[in-house]
Amino acid sequence: MYKALYRQYRPEVFEEVLGQDHIVRILKNQIATDSTSHAYLFCGTRGTGKTTTARLLAKGLNCLSDGERPCGVCANCQAIKEGSFLDVIEIDAASNNGVDNVRELRESVKYPPSAGRRKVYIIDEVHMLSTEAFNALLKTLEEPPEYVTFILATTEVHKLPATVLSRCMRLDFKRVPESVLMEGMADICVKIGIDVTEDALRIIAANADGSVRDGLSILDQCISGRDMKVDAEEVLEFLGASGYEDFIELTDMVRKKRTEEAIAFLNGILSDGKDVRQFMRDWISHYRNLMMVKFMRNPETVVSMSAENIERMRRQAAVLELEDINRGIMELSTMANEARWSTQPRILLELAIVRLCMGAGQIRELTEVEFTEPEPVLTPVKKTAPAKAPVKKAEEPAPVIVEEPAPVKQEESMQVQTEEPVIEMPVEPAPVEAAPVGPALAEMQNGFDCEDIWNKVFEDGENEKGSINIIRNSARLKSIDENTFTVEANNAFFKDLAEKNRQFIEHLVEKHTGSRRRMNIKLANSSETERSAEEIAAEASDILGIKVEVK
Ligand SMILES: Nc1ncnc2c1ncn2[C@@H]1O[C@H](COP(=O)(O)OP(=O)(O)OP(=O)(O)O)[C@@H](O)[C@H]1O
Ligand SMILES: [Mg+2]
Ligand SMILES: [Zn+2]
Repeated sequence: MYKALYRQYRPEVFEEVLGQDHIVRILKNQIATDSTSHAYLFCGTRGTGKTTTARLLAKGLNCLSDGERPCGVCANCQAIKEGSFLDVIEIDAASNNGVDNVRELRESVKYPPSAGRRKVYIIDEVHMLSTEAFNALLKTLEEPPEYVTFILATTEVHKLPATVLSRCMRLDFKRVPESVLMEGMADICVKIGIDVTEDALRIIAANADGSVRDGLSILDQCISGRDMKVDAEEVLEFLGASGYEDFIELTDMVRKKRTEEAIAFLNGILSDGKDVRQFMRDWISHYRNLMMVKFMRNPETVVSMSAENIERMRRQAAVLELEDINRGIMELSTMANEARWSTQPRILLELAIVRLCMGAGQIRELTEVEFTEPEPVLTPVKKTAPAKAPVKKAEEPAPVIVEEPAPVKQEESMQVQTEEPVIEMPVEPAPVEAAPVGPALAEMQNGFDCEDIWNKVFEDGENEKGSINIIRNSARLKSIDENTFTVEANNAFFKDLAEKNRQFIEHLVEKHTGSRRRMNIKLANSSETERSAEEIAAEASDILGIKVEVK
C-alpha cells in the first residue's frame, strides 16, 4: 500500500530531525546524563517535528543501546516506532478531551512501567483539553510518580493555562529554514531514487512555509503518478492548480469595484472547501508577488512562479497603482489577523472585499458598526428610491441631492452635516438617477402587493433600526403565502444579513400583512452587473457605521 512520504520518513534518530538543533542538543544531553525533566511542553507551528521529537524522546528514555540513544534499532526503539510498546502512551487530546479521559490517565499513571525504564505519556494537541480536564491533569503534573515523563504538544500554546505552563519544560519548535528543508528533501529523494532539480526543491521549500510535513507532502504529489523525475515546471504546475488564477481574477474584480461579483466569486471558491484563513494568507501573498513583479526586473528570484505566471502577474501589476497593492496587503493583513480569533472569518473576508471595492485608500478612521437613533429630517426631500447613505458628489457639474437621506440631519443645501468621520471615495462619477428597484409593475401575491409591503417594511424599519435599510436594495420580497414569505437576496452577504435580522423583518412583515409568517431567504442566481458608486458607498456606510462620500 502506498504510504505518504511524510509518514514513511519520520526521523528515527535525532540526527535526522531538520532545523531544530537547539532542541535536539538539549534533549540528547539530558538523555545522556539521565537528567530529563518530568514534564515537557513542545510548542510551535504545525509540521515542524513536535510529535516526531516526542517519540524520539520516548525512545531515548527506553532505548536499550549503550551508545547514542535512541539508537532506532533495538527492540524497544522498534516497538515504540510501531506503536506497540506498552509504556509509551499517546493520547490525542483533540478526541479525548474530557475529564473522564484524564481520570483514566491518572489511574494508569499509578502503575509502574511494565517493559521499559520509564512510562511516557505523549499528549498531543493538548490545548484541546477542557478546563476540567486541565485541572485534573494538573494534579498529576504536580507530583508525577518517579517513573513517569509527560510530553505535551501543541500548536496553540496561548490557549494553555499558566498553571500548566509553569510545570513544564517548554521547548519551541521553529519553522524550518528553506535551505535546511531543501537539503533534507534532497536526501530523501536520493534514498527513494528520485531525480529532483535544485529549482524544484527551492520552489517546494518556499511553498512549505517552514513546515517539513507540507514540504514532503508537496514533493509527494509532484512525484506520484509520474516518472522518477521532478523539475520546476512540474512543481509549478502542481502548485499553480491551487489558485493563482483565482487571485488574479478576484483582484481584478476588486480593482473594478465589482463588489457583488467579487463576493459571488468568493462564494464559489469557498464552496469548493477552501479554508478561509488560508485563502486570506494566499491572497496577501498574491498582492506581495504583484509588488515584487512591479518593481523588480528579475522577480523570478523572489517569486516562486513559472515564467507564464510571472507574465500574467506582470500584466495585472501594470494596471495597479502601488497604493492599490499597499491597500490590498494592509486590508487583508488586518482581517487575517482578526480572523485568527474570529468564529466567523468569512464575514471578515467579505468585509475586506467590500472595503477594497470602495477603494478605501482614504479611510481615515474606522468605527464599530453601531446604530444611532435617526434624527428627524428637517427638510422634506424627494423620494425616488430606497434610502441611501448621505452621499456627496464632488467634481460634478452641479450639486445634486442624492435621493432620500439616511437618518442624519439634513440641511437645506446638499451639504451633509455629520460629526462622524467621513470617507471619500475617489471614483468616476456614476449616474445620479438610481433605477427603481424591483419589478416595474406591482406584482400581486395573495392580494398583497409585495413591492409595496417591502417598502413599507423598510420605511418602518428605518425608524427602529437604521442599518436595516441596506437590505432593502439588495433583496426583494418575492412572494407571500399563508404561513411564509420569501425574500430573495442578491448575494450571500445580504442573505446572511437578512438572516441576522430575521425576527425584526418577520415582525415588520407581520405588521403590514396582519399575520405572523416565517421568512424564507433565497439567493438570486443572477450575478449583477457593475454597481454604482452610491450603492457601494451606501452599503459600506451601513457596514462600517460611518459616512461614506462619493467624490
Ligand atoms: N523537524 C523535522 N525534521 C524532519 N522531518 C520532519 C520534521 N518535522 C516534521 N517532519 C516530517 O513531517 C511529519 C510530521 O511531523 P510531526 O508529526 O512531528 O509534526 P508536528 O510538529 O507534530 O505537527 P502537528 O502540529 O501538525 O502535530 C513527520 O513524519 C516527518 O516526516
Ligand atoms: Mg503533532
Ligand atoms: Zn534503541
